[in-house]
Amino acid sequence: MLRRDVLFGAGGAVLLGGIGTYGWRSSTGSMADYAEYVRHLRAPLDVHRHDRELIRFATLAASGHNTQPWKFVIRPGAIDILPDLARTTRVVDPDDHHLFVSLGCAAENLAIAAAATGRPGEAQADAEGRVQFRHSPGAPHADPLFAAIPRRQSTRADYDGRPVPARDLEALRKAAAVPGVRLVLLTERRRIDPVRDLIVAGNDGQMRDAAFRAELKDWVRFNPRSAAKKGDGLFTAASGNPVMPDILGHMAFDMFVTAEGENDRYARQIDSSAGIAVFLAEHEDKAHWVAVGRACQRCALAATALGLKQAFVNQPVEVARLRPALASLVGEAGLRPDIVMRFGYGPALPYSPRRPVEDVLA
Ligand SMILES: Cc1cc2nc3c(=O)[nH]c(=O)nc-3n(C[C@H](O)[C@H](O)[C@H](O)COP(=O)(O)O)c2cc1C
Repeated sequence: MLRRDVLFGAGGAVLLGGIGTYGWRSSTGSMADYAEYVRHLRAPLDVHRHDRELIRFATLAASGHNTQPWKFVIRPGAIDILPDLARTTRVVDPDDHHLFVSLGCAAENLAIAAAATGRPGEAQADAEGRVQFRHSPGAPHADPLFAAIPRRQSTRADYDGRPVPARDLEALRKAAAVPGVRLVLLTERRRIDPVRDLIVAGNDGQMRDAAFRAELKDWVRFNPRSAAKKGDGLFTAASGNPVMPDILGHMAFDMFVTAEGENDRYARQIDSSAGIAVFLAEHEDKAHWVAVGRACQRCALAATALGLKQAFVNQPVEVARLRPALASLVGEAGLRPDIVMRFGYGPALPYSPRRPVEDVLA
């Protein structure tokens, strides 16, 4: 997104005239300082502060608009993950579907990190979508998905079009196997193209919707200083876009982020991808949305471990009228599709920010 990745392109440069280098830097902060902030966020897990460190690793999970809509409660032998209903996105996610998928992503990181560092356990979601992770001491379990947690990112760049070998597709499928969740992998162009067209159609509707644009802009962080200060949201550089002072960013968003430009970009990005993964829960309820989050986080971690990049392209699940067409295209008519991800080989981009652990404790 910016769409969740904002396209300021050449037009943005027009806004730059007249601002000196010093004024610019003092209002944006530096990418070097941001890299140092990210280094701490993504440092290796320190078992001497085990509960807090497990929570830090949980927060490195994906979340819609990077809202991080979670609160953690540390109890003896358990960590609970609760929804933070102050962090909903009413326009793009009116029924909190993405919010509960995001809790599932965090739950999966938590369970993987705990097992890998000698605290294996079970994460269970109740009917309200609250997750309880009960753990006990055990032998550390080596898992390539654990090493992938601090390296995973949503990479909103063009990929190089190379296909993924069949054994790696199978590894993705195996890693993402979670009860109650179906995964459809599309790798043939004739099957990807109609899904691309639905993604573009959904994007077009969203980018012409003033309420969607306003909510999205609210979560965009236009420079490293505001990204690190707020610790959430969609940092432009993490989507391969320029950084600029907030005031210019707001103007550039309004002027240069157009439906046409973003549609073209999505079409190009999907054409450059090796495949598309569609996740569908067998039931439409909060516990199943958490399960979808667990499956798609596992898929993203497995992709990272295999040297692949991935990014969400959820427009046809966010625009409700497009869901039936997507479900039919993937042979699952009657189910609500939950998540759409593209994958392939591509460059690494700067990481997105996170809030400190103290801010996510209930
Ligand atoms: C439920 C859910 C829906 C998402 N939808 C989109 C999307 O449609 N487009 C997009 O570019 N990113 C989407 N994302 C990715 C988030 O924006 C991303 O996880 C967040 O900005 C944090 O960045 P990271 O994944 O690189 O750590 C989604 C993530 C989740 C969990």
